[in-house]
Amino acid sequence: MAAINYFKTTAKIITGAKSITTLPQEIKQLGGRNVFIITDEGIIKAGICDQVIQILKGSVKAVSVYGSVPPEPPLETIADCLEQARQARCDLIIGLGGGSSMDVAKVISVLLTNKKPLNDLIGINLVEKRGIPKILIPTSAGTGSEVTPIAILTDCSENLKKGIVSDYLFPEVAILDAELTISLPPLATAASGIDALIHAIEAYTSVNATSMTDHLALRAIELIVSNIRSAWANGNNIEARMKMLEGSCLAGQAFANAGVTAVHAFAYPLGGEFHVSHGVANAVMLCTVLRFNLLANLSKFGTLGKVLCPDISSTDNKVLANGGILFLEELIADLQLPKTLRELNVPREAIGGMAEGVMKVTRLLANNPRKITLADAVSIYQSVY
Ligand SMILES: [Fe+2]
Repeated sequence: MAAINYFKTTAKIITGAKSITTLPQEIKQLGGRNVFIITDEGIIKAGICDQVIQILKGSVKAVSVYGSVPPEPPLETIADCLEQARQARCDLIIGLGGGSSMDVAKVISVLLTNKKPLNDLIGINLVEKRGIPKILIPTSAGTGSEVTPIAILTDCSENLKKGIVSDYLFPEVAILDAELTISLPPLATAASGIDALIHAIEAYTSVNATSMTDHLALRAIELIVSNIRSAWANGNNIEARMKMLEGSCLAGQAFANAGVTAVHAFAYPLGGEFHVSHGVANAVMLCTVLRFNLLANLSKFGTLGKVLCPDISSTDNKVLANGGILFLEELIADLQLPKTLRELNVPREAIGGMAEGVMKVTRLLANNPRKITLADAVSIYQSVY
């Protein structure tokens, strides 16, 4: 008998250049009058927040802005932002930016209705009530946070990433407007785009992949690999930017349901200890982890290779899989992303501790197609040095 699988995603996704102009009508439908925008300094400096405020003029009673979400947002950011959201008496939240701003928006939305401290919501399905309505607007094609029920925060006292997972974190609406992503610089375009590609590859090869997530992941891979170079080389290429946003959204839908695997697990210690950005850390680990994993599911890694390199004529899955990895190595080189831990100034002596860190990311290792031992983790980091 076929397995029964669940698939969850954001209820309404609006796409297209200038789709941000639909914002007033979406807010009206959700009954919002006092709007609270959560964003970061880069988005404010780029004028994107002002652009959104301008669009809202005359259609809502009040707009307030929390404009200082840092990357890898610490728990303290939530307390600060929550205080301002309460003072604003907001009834609708907009998360405008990358994954950090969208994640903070999700958390503030549920903290305003659940009379519980933040610490009591950290974990899986601990949020009891729906939050106030939220609309998420990504300004980079990467995290897919607009379609995931997850928010990741940093506990600086323990130097740990902590997650809230709840269906109540899905926004009511996501708006994907490529025009909001054109000011993203090449390095951030490459790093966030590779992160999205890795979401799709890992969702496709996760042990929890389903037929639904496979369809989304494979299309996401096609969209991203055929547009990431153009978006990186010319940020004003609206068509490439739109395809990248759609690809990262499909990848987000796939991994929200199938999970990500060991590439992300190996990237976490690089972010936590050496503050390497999430996309760059993932890019550095990608090909070595895939080479390790491919024997666990040659059929899927072979299909992945065929999607990445349609011109390979072989029917041997191992040949196809290796061809796909060579394609990814060339892609990472074209985008001028680092390829080794040495380039990231990570000392060789740190490998043992980082490998132990990987073994603690059991939530992601459980999704990985191949079992990983501590000795494997050490040898994978050594291969990337
Ligand atoms: Fe990621």
